[in-house]
Amino acid sequence: MADIKFDGKVAVVTGAGAGIGRIHAIELAKRGARVVVNDLGVTVNGDGENRSAAEKVVKEIRDMGGVAVANFDSVSSMDGGENIIQSAVASFGSVDILVNNAGIIRDRTLNKMTEDDWDRIISVHLKGAFTVTKPALKIMKEKNYGRIIFTTSGSALYGNFGQANYAAAKMGLIGLMHVLTLETSKYNIKCNTIAPNAASRMTEELIPPPMLKLLKPEYITPLVLYLASEENIDAGMIFNCFGGFYSRTAVMCSSGTIIGDGKGEISPEDIRDNWQKISSIDNPRILNSIAESFGYISPLLKVEK
Ligand code: NAI
Repeated sequence: MADIKFDGKVAVVTGAGAGIGRIHAIELAKRGARVVVNDLGVTVNGDGENRSAAEKVVKEIRDMGGVAVANFDSVSSMDGGENIIQSAVASFGSVDILVNNAGIIRDRTLNKMTEDDWDRIISVHLKGAFTVTKPALKIMKEKNYGRIIFTTSGSALYGNFGQANYAAAKMGLIGLMHVLTLETSKYNIKCNTIAPNAASRMTEELIPPPMLKLLKPEYITPLVLYLASEENIDAGMIFNCFGGFYSRTAVMCSSGTIIGDGKGEISPEDIRDNWQKISSIDNPRILNSIAESFGYISPLLKVEK
């Protein structure tokens, strides 16, 4: 089979001035994409601003013969999101691929967490995905083509001590992706989400060194490049990726149980007496919409007829 190429494609990678995003940008460019390297150049906690982060990556790409421009806007504002996509349009005429990657952390247990810790995390990760995706989507819909990748976290999917703000924001991206998948299905726009673990300044203090050595950021990018390619026709999926391990993860619904016939009362004791069936994950299914979940009580509708 032919190699995956991005000739003629325009990619935007947010937070591409460091860490995982930098490698996404470089590898997309190596395979022919023209790339907008967006980065506000903040510290890991979101403080300060520095243009050199994005500039350095653009230079790296140009030095190896690739095509890239820098953008220094914050993903946290609507204007920032508009400007990021506008720089793709102004420089390269369009946008085909969007990798929502920019991120910061402000870790504290919930009782010590300030409103500012909460708001800033939500605004970079969750609002920051909205602000950039919205203007990109307009263009992708018009051209009937697009590949969008969101970056969630195992902290959201499975939990991590001290990251309530971050986990809440990252889980918000899953809801955003599920709805966007439904809203874009007829436009050949494929939205997917990755949950990476990689050595970067964000994790160097959090993960023990032997494990950190395994978590090469270079192992995240191949999945992103596949999801960003024309060959990928899957959407609405979430993937774990770290240390060369790749797997799908999903929100699932167990077969559960129906109590009663939809007419009588249901008591807390009925819940207690059926707890085993309610709380076990038997025959889990991935549902593609809330409408699909109503199927579980369709036997009651048949009784009604
Ligand atoms: P990093 O700190 O190395 O890079 C993040 C980049 O985003 C920085 O260059 C920063 O300046 C930029 N950025 C931050 N706020 C921005 C804003 N408002 N506008 C534009 N750019 C902004 O972090 P890393 O590890 O590369 O993380 C990349 C993404 O992957 C983040 O979304 C992070 O939450 C996520 N992630 C990383 C994990 C890991 O193990 N490294 C684990 C799970 C998720």
